[in-house]
Amino acid sequence: MRVPAGTPTFFGSMRILSGIKPSGEIHFGNYLGMLKPMVESQSRGELLCFIANLHSLTSVLDGVQMAAWTRQMAIDILALGIDPEKSVFWMQSDHPEITEFSWYLSNFTPVGLLERMHAYKDAISNGKSPNAGLFTYPVLMAADIVGYGVHKVPVGRDQKQHVEVARDLVDAINHRYGDILVKPEPEIGEDVATVLGLDGQKMSKSYGNTLGIFADPAEVKKKIMAIATDSTPMDAPKDPDSNPVFSWYRHVASGEAAAEMDRKLRAGGYGWGHAKKELVQAYLDHFAPYRERRDAIAEDLDGLKKIMAMGAEKARAIHKPILETLRRAVGVRYL
Ligand code: ADP
Ligand code: TRP
Repeated sequence: MRVPAGTPTFFGSMRILSGIKPSGEIHFGNYLGMLKPMVESQSRGELLCFIANLHSLTSVLDGVQMAAWTRQMAIDILALGIDPEKSVFWMQSDHPEITEFSWYLSNFTPVGLLERMHAYKDAISNGKSPNAGLFTYPVLMAADIVGYGVHKVPVGRDQKQHVEVARDLVDAINHRYGDILVKPEPEIGEDVATVLGLDGQKMSKSYGNTLGIFADPAEVKKKIMAIATDSTPMDAPKDPDSNPVFSWYRHVASGEAAAEMDRKLRAGGYGWGHAKKELVQAYLDHFAPYRERRDAIAEDLDGLKKIMAMGAEKARAIHKPILETLRRAVGVRYL
């Protein structure tokens, strides 16, 4: 069956979307892998950015903690440069129709596909007994993407598989009902695909190895000074890529300063201790203006409420015709 002629499809201007879970502090990996590209994308298309608090519930069930993290994440994202007037910025749970959309998608989702998801398999191999929320996580994520007619999804490499699920579901639905949904593409920046954490594995809120964007300066210093580096003697030339110090520095210092550190490390006579000190300073300087904005937003919670309400309205307006199209296609519109 084809949807009725005249049903709107949404192949218009470039629409970009991504989301972040409020399951802890926003960290350098989130910033480089997702938030910075999103902030920069505000000038190249229609940007949609949301906080995936429903997704966080799959791992955090302490409601008080969850509400606190969620509020802080909203403040932090605004402070870091998502413009709620120009872009669409909202809280996933403020637009609950997306869970209805997700239900329709779940009926096109093979269980075998969900069983192959890395996040699900990791939970099993770590001896956890995953809940149904974790199992169907990728379906809700597909709804987040497909439900807003999105073309591009800037994410870190860990999310590629999830975006592929969204693509598969669009194929299945379009195959059955005609071209009613937009097929999204992941966008993964090569040099920030996987930012490493303090322990050398992927930086993640789930691994407790993060460097917070807004962590206390003393904590930033302590964490950076504790990064493991090799014991090459001070005079010897060093490989700038042998630990995260230089790669992080590159992202928070000017081009000239980074070139200078690269040169000094390779030349020898300059130790990792020096490099770390420079990194601490550059990191704090880089994020200082955002800290001030964050404090100002935190002082105006009424203003924040208005921003979130406006965002949910905008998100709803984008989603409504797409939801309606799918409702008609699957036949729940019966009169
Ligand atoms: P976390 O793994 O810390 O819980 P999220 O799953 O909420 O982070 O990820 C939010 C966004 O940040 C996603 O697009 C994700 O791909 C990106 N991201 C998270 N950690 C990293 C990392 N270490 N390197 C690059 N991107 C990352
Ligand atoms: N799963 C994503 C993460 O852990 C968060 C997320 C939920 C998301 N829905 C999304 C990211 C839609 C991009 C698009 O990072």
